[in-house]
Amino acid sequence: MKNGLEDVVAAETQLSDVNGEAGQLIIRGVSLDRLVEYARYEDVALLLLDGLLEERLDRDSLCLRLGQMRKEVFSHIGAIDDDLLQLPPVDIMRALIARLADGDDLDTALRLLAAPAVFLPAILRLKRGETPVAPTPSLSQSADILTMLSAAVPGAAQVAALDTYLVTISDHGLNASTFASRVIASTKAGLTSSVMAALSALKGPLHGGAPGPVLDMLDAVGAKDNAAKWLGQALDRGERLMGFGHRIYRVRDPRADALKGALTQMIAAGQVDRDRIGLAEAVEQSALAILKERKPGRPLDVNVEFYTALLLDALTFPRDAFTGVFAIGRTIGWIAHAREQSLEGRLIRPRSVYVGPLPKAA
Ligand code: COA
Repeated sequence: MKNGLEDVVAAETQLSDVNGEAGQLIIRGVSLDRLVEYARYEDVALLLLDGLLEERLDRDSLCLRLGQMRKEVFSHIGAIDDDLLQLPPVDIMRALIARLADGDDLDTALRLLAAPAVFLPAILRLKRGETPVAPTPSLSQSADILTMLSAAVPGAAQVAALDTYLVTISDHGLNASTFASRVIASTKAGLTSSVMAALSALKGPLHGGAPGPVLDMLDAVGAKDNAAKWLGQALDRGERLMGFGHRIYRVRDPRADALKGALTQMIAAGQVDRDRIGLAEAVEQSALAILKERKPGRPLDVNVEFYTALLLDALTFPRDAFTGVFAIGRTIGWIAHAREQSLEGRLIRPRSVYVGPLPKAA
């Protein structure tokens, strides 16, 4: 038995491959660096779902039906009462998703893709005391999310940046939430059940809850000149530098570069606070230098969370909503894995080793 099932192979998949030595992420045969050059959210949804559902869709009909589903699920916003609104955004999302019918068909899949995209902006507006903005079905998923969030037409660079984020995090091998989705799918419970289990796994701080602390760290550093000193003292205290290191990647996380590219375009469009970026760059450079010096035997580079934090902050998502935005992007991966498991896999039923007391002899 391996604690945490590290290195244990638990599924065969055609969906994605994480190569930690080469620093490469492949999604259905396409390398991430290539995928982010052309793909929008809807493209990666088509790519991941291809052949996994009985009904097939072309890009236009996917956009149309996804837009209609956003409109349909918006009616569930009325179920957010004062008690529910006190919970963290991702917990409210989970409660609302629990209201959706279970099933294994295309409509269920599209409803589940639309739901978090509609729920999160509405939850954030209600928490600010603002009225939720209804979806605009004719918009792309990313443009509609930003419109529902801010009640204003987003700029092209902002929409492109959110698309890049959603594409970049769409799937990533057999991570904890994806495994949870496959376990539920192996019981034939339905896609809604799979997505709820996956979302519950994602919200844990060891999985999808990390990018907020990156911003906390930047706030604590405060100024460029303070970066080296602050980071050195944090390591002296035995702390980890947020946004650096990865269990699988031994080189730079390819998703970090994809997100940095999107951020660079937002900077060029004047949509990012330059002081914030200047501070982040100083922290990145100092952290890489100090980690190289203090941990010479362990390659530690920047990971996806560092640029996720900067990108989502620039897109005006509050930090307690970052896990919810992650869920908007990862739902397509959960659904694709659930379908793959359902079509090809058996019931997942591992065994445990009993280490408890034995019954006393009579
Ligand atoms: N800052 C400082 N030191 C770090 C570090 C970091 N971010 N990440 C790893 N290390 C050090 C460990 O202290 C350990 O040093 P030691 O051998 O002297 O004790 C060594 O590198 C190996 O650590 P280990 O726990 O085996 O690495 P891991 O592969 O299990 O950890 C993470 C992976 C992601 C949990 C870890 O890098 C981390 O905590 N990063 C910060 C949090 C973060 O950014 N999470 C988001 C990940 S996408």
